[in-house]
Amino acid sequence: MSQETPFYLQGNFAPVSEEITSFNLPVKGSIPEELRGLYLRNGPNPKDGDPGHWFTGDGMIHGVRLEDGEAKWYRNRWVQSRALVEGAQMIGPNGVDLTVAIANTNIVGHAGRIFALVEIAYPTEMTAELDTIGTTDFDGRLQTSMTAHPKECPRTGELHFFGYQFVPPYLTYHVLDASGALVKSEEISVPGPTMIHDFGLTDNYAIFMDLPIVFSPERAMSGNSFPYIWSDDYGARLGVMPRSGSNADVQWFEIDPCYVFHPMNAYDDGSKLVMDVVRYPELWKGNPDTFAPAHLHRWAVDLDAKKVIEQAIDDRSIEFPRVDPRRSGFKHRYGYAVHTDVPGGIDMRELVKYDLQTGNTEIHSFGPGTAPGEAVFVPAAGSAAEDDGYLLSYVYDAARDASDLVILNAAAIADEPVATIQLPQRVPFGFHGNWIADV
Ligand SMILES: [Fe+2]
Repeated sequence: MSQETPFYLQGNFAPVSEEITSFNLPVKGSIPEELRGLYLRNGPNPKDGDPGHWFTGDGMIHGVRLEDGEAKWYRNRWVQSRALVEGAQMIGPNGVDLTVAIANTNIVGHAGRIFALVEIAYPTEMTAELDTIGTTDFDGRLQTSMTAHPKECPRTGELHFFGYQFVPPYLTYHVLDASGALVKSEEISVPGPTMIHDFGLTDNYAIFMDLPIVFSPERAMSGNSFPYIWSDDYGARLGVMPRSGSNADVQWFEIDPCYVFHPMNAYDDGSKLVMDVVRYPELWKGNPDTFAPAHLHRWAVDLDAKKVIEQAIDDRSIEFPRVDPRRSGFKHRYGYAVHTDVPGGIDMRELVKYDLQTGNTEIHSFGPGTAPGEAVFVPAAGSAAEDDGYLLSYVYDAARDASDLVILNAAAIADEPVATIQLPQRVPFGFHGNWIADV
């Protein structure tokens, strides 16, 4: 490859060219019988040429079905978006078309439906065998895009999310009830069109991150596929809104400029809110093509003193933080992330487990020539203990130029894997996924 080939078209970032269906996959170790469901993961897999940015390639889902202690099948499927199928453009003569969804970022289950997500469009519904049904606006009620990071509240079963756009309204908060009906949409006032990738949700509050990566009309007009860039002038602040409240109830807190794609989790702590985040001190200053190291930080939002106290937790560069989904919005002791190297792209090295009570960390290295992706926590059946469960991650193995679905014991992640399921091809490095248990 030429030196100009961008990182996202090289090595295991590069797309795969085939959709494969493979049954009864070979397994080393033993798949726990209690794992009955689908492990799905989304990521960019540009079908033709260079999409111009890692974040803008066509979405492809890689899925494995586990049942009866067996890996019943592996499938990888492009999301059949209108962009892929028709060549449709998101920005057309009638403005922004939210049905043109290159859904490449996450895939979630809610109320018996499965949605592939990208933050600039409507969600795209998929079948449990990864066929594309199409975009949905929840019976005409969703009027904005939907973040790729909605949060299901373990207490209410609601799915909380937001949409951000570079045209007004810039930020809107939404709630689907436990049956999947859109029951709340609330416009949130922000000064400008920033890139808002994710948010915090506690048992009582939503926390919005208005950070200085700002829509650039100049970049958009000059044909860059990724029109957001760092601003030295925009500032940075967190907006805290009671879940039952409205825009008038939002309290804003100035913080040091930084960027955060992903909180690990957020929770209420008396008159404070705690949000653990993977924080970039600066990102995409000058151009949005390179990445920088990012570290685990804790923000404590003091609602009485009206300030945010920031604390560095670890000096490793990490990304893709996750917690036990039963702790989402509630105090967590443990968190999981991918330890990365950053030579211009993001090199995945190993998995790290944080014990935020003791400050200890535990590592799982998969060995030479291997690289994991985001690890998803799946609780053990019938157990309430926070780390009693499994971590599932696609791990690339250069020796066979293919990937495995690896299952670790989350309570002892350094141990040998519980099971290693060999996939028939490699899974390019991508973004996010989830376990969708049979009900
Ligand atoms: Fe993300």
